[in-house]
Amino acid sequence: MNIRLFIIKLLKKLRLVKIIKKILGFLRKVFSCKKQVLSKDGTASLPNSIIFEPTTKCNLNCQMCYQREERKMGKRDLSFDEIQKIINNFSNVKRVSLIGAEIFARSDIFQIIEEFIKRGIKLYLTTNGTLINEDNVKELKRLKKGIRGIGFSLDGLKELHNKIRGRDWAFDRTIEAINLVKKDFNVSINSVVMKDNIDELYDLVKYLRGLGIVNFGLAVEMFATPEEVALSKKILDFGDLSLALEIQKNAEYKFSLEKLKRTIDKIKTIKGINLVIHPGAFKDFPEEFYNGILRKKIVLKCENMFLGRINAQGDVIFCPFIKKPFGNLLEQSFEEIWNNEEFKLFRKKLVKNNLAPVCKRCCKLGANKKQ
Ligand SMILES: C[S@@+](CC[C@H](N)C(=O)[O-])C[C@H]1O[C@@H](n2cnc3c(N)ncnc32)[C@H](O)[C@@H]1O
Ligand code: SF4
Ligand code: SF4
Repeated sequence: MNIRLFIIKLLKKLRLVKIIKKILGFLRKVFSCKKQVLSKDGTASLPNSIIFEPTTKCNLNCQMCYQREERKMGKRDLSFDEIQKIINNFSNVKRVSLIGAEIFARSDIFQIIEEFIKRGIKLYLTTNGTLINEDNVKELKRLKKGIRGIGFSLDGLKELHNKIRGRDWAFDRTIEAINLVKKDFNVSINSVVMKDNIDELYDLVKYLRGLGIVNFGLAVEMFATPEEVALSKKILDFGDLSLALEIQKNAEYKFSLEKLKRTIDKIKTIKGINLVIHPGAFKDFPEEFYNGILRKKIVLKCENMFLGRINAQGDVIFCPFIKKPFGNLLEQSFEEIWNNEEFKLFRKKLVKNNLAPVCKRCCKLGANKKQ
């Protein structure tokens, strides 16, 4: 046996290969990430990660979906040729996250994925999973080299998940999809924490752990009141048509903070899982976050600030919720739009106001330090 093989075998025996791979991955990340800067005049470093929404269409009807109102507008999605034109103009982009509405609702989604991969761009997919089946999974597997991860959404066990998602076949199809891809892809599960499912989340994670899943994300339900929307519009000056949020009259969560903490602690006892809680601000300041007083007490940050976001019409928008467009990629390049005067002013206003009232329950909310 040659020396190299002997060393690899020895490391494997000592289970060191996994650890070394993790350290190398971490170092690669640290050295490839340039520090992102926001200048006083609102100029932001050019992102190399983009979030792209290829469609506003979806086959489900989830009770909490923040995109419901937007979908009713029935806007036309970009054609394949238009998407190709946009991708051809990317210069700095290394990673793209494809997120819906539901990306697999586009019949040409595999061609779109291939276009990104051809240009060396790594992809992350978020899906409800109900449109991945034995017929098309081969297409996905063919493209697996360029796909870094697939996130599936599940909010409860069968009966509850189907009720939340508005379709009595949703759970079975998503589980089938997860089983079809879990050996070939890095799979994670995202769940929204709501009054209706908070008591079932532990059982859900336990069930999925039994299927071999290890990566889980919990996002506290996002919503805003009409008053918060009105005040945010005044501060940030975004138009009526550019907000995607679940609107609720009552500003309070419908579950207690103690229950939320207990649920998270219980889930953490499940062996072998990686659990990420959104937003980051909740992890750091749970009381202030839960009581909606973060903006008054803590210097906040928007974790979306340096992520380019493109909607299904090719507009460069601010974030998944404040969908204010700053320019369209069929007319201008990303570089031209990213730091145009309107975009810079928007960022300046956001920072000056310690974000906006609609940000206070957002999954991208981060906290800096006590004021
Ligand atoms: C809008 S969906 C798009 C991707 C895909 N259709 C899906 O459901 O996974 C993106 C993620 O947002 C979550 N989501 C939807 N409405 C939400 C809300 N009001 N609060 C927090 N997360 C929400 C979904 O569960 C999903 O994990
Ligand atoms: S599947 Fe995703 S996009 Fe579709 S309604 Fe549900 S949360 Fe919204
Ligand atoms: S914190 Fe505010 S600005 Fe940032 S992503 Fe959330 S809603 Fe958008």
